[in-house]
Amino acid sequence: MKNRITSLFAIKYPIVQGGMVWASGWKLASAVSNAGGLGVIGAGSMYPEVLRENILKCQKATDKPFAVNVPMLYPNLNEIMNIIVELGVEIVFTSAGNPKIWTTFFKEKGIVVVHVVSSVKFAIKAESAGVDAIVAEGFEAGGHNGRDETTTLTLIPSVKEKIKIPLIAAGGIATGDAMLATMVLGADAVQVGSRFVACTEASSHPSFKNKIVSIGEGDTHLTLKELAPVRLIKNKFYKDIQSLYENGTNINELKNLLGRGRAKKGMFEGDMDEGELEIGQVASMIHDIKSAKDIINDMMREFEEAKKRVVTI
Ligand SMILES: Cc1cc2nc3c(=O)[nH]c(=O)nc-3n(C[C@H](O)[C@H](O)[C@H](O)COP(=O)(O)O)c2cc1C
Repeated sequence: MKNRITSLFAIKYPIVQGGMVWASGWKLASAVSNAGGLGVIGAGSMYPEVLRENILKCQKATDKPFAVNVPMLYPNLNEIMNIIVELGVEIVFTSAGNPKIWTTFFKEKGIVVVHVVSSVKFAIKAESAGVDAIVAEGFEAGGHNGRDETTTLTLIPSVKEKIKIPLIAAGGIATGDAMLATMVLGADAVQVGSRFVACTEASSHPSFKNKIVSIGEGDTHLTLKELAPVRLIKNKFYKDIQSLYENGTNINELKNLLGRGRAKKGMFEGDMDEGELEIGQVASMIHDIKSAKDIINDMMREFEEAKKRVVTI
């Protein structure tokens, strides 16, 4: 399919695999890129040397374009950004921070920059910072999210109205039908997260993948808004957070409970009770663990079928 995003990234299908802490290492990113989408390494959970190893392995595993996602709230940012440049990564996704800080640095080196936002206000800021494209992520998405609670169905047309650069829709998209819907609303492509966590090549723990395919509608909630809002599965750790809220908690108590390493414990090490389990609302529609290639082929088939169906409505 030829459009502004497939041309910008030089990919076959307008499907981006969201960069995800503890889930998207080189294996997932290269599998997605080899299947015709854009694979993205999630640098947010990687020490600089681990990122270096992931980029090198990804370059060996695919000759197709892939990207690195960097949430700008972690330490070692200088080192991370320099490794990306040194190893010749061609596309960078930045999130959770001010796009002005790094965009010029990458653009001067010929690197394509995409910034992830969750509101119209930040989309406008990102465009004026000079990024090449924007990911607009709705409230239903997995992982960290904005405080404004704007859902994908509202966010995409609202952002589309205000920006001119290519737009990638994220949040609640796991099927070709949802992909078509967001493209009708003005997106040039989709970014898919949760669906790729329950994927054979994802580095997420098998217990986490099995948990995802077992949960239903209403089993996730966006919480910890005072720290960094994040959508979690309602497990024991989530319930401990909620009891703090019920007893009138403060930021320090929340920080203490969160402690360090909760996300790794849950999503990577498989502790389904004490770990932080980040996933989107759409998990309730994910019923199987399959390969990246199957996910992309199924989405593209559904997309084409949905287009035909729409004609008869
Ligand atoms: C487990 C998990 C980890 C994530 N980590 C990141 C991250 O490190 N950086 C980022 O920009 N987005 C992150 N996200 C968001 C995804 O990249 C993507 O935008 C989002 O999952 C899309 O919504 P969906 O889950 O409904 O498909 C994460 C999402 C999940 C589910």
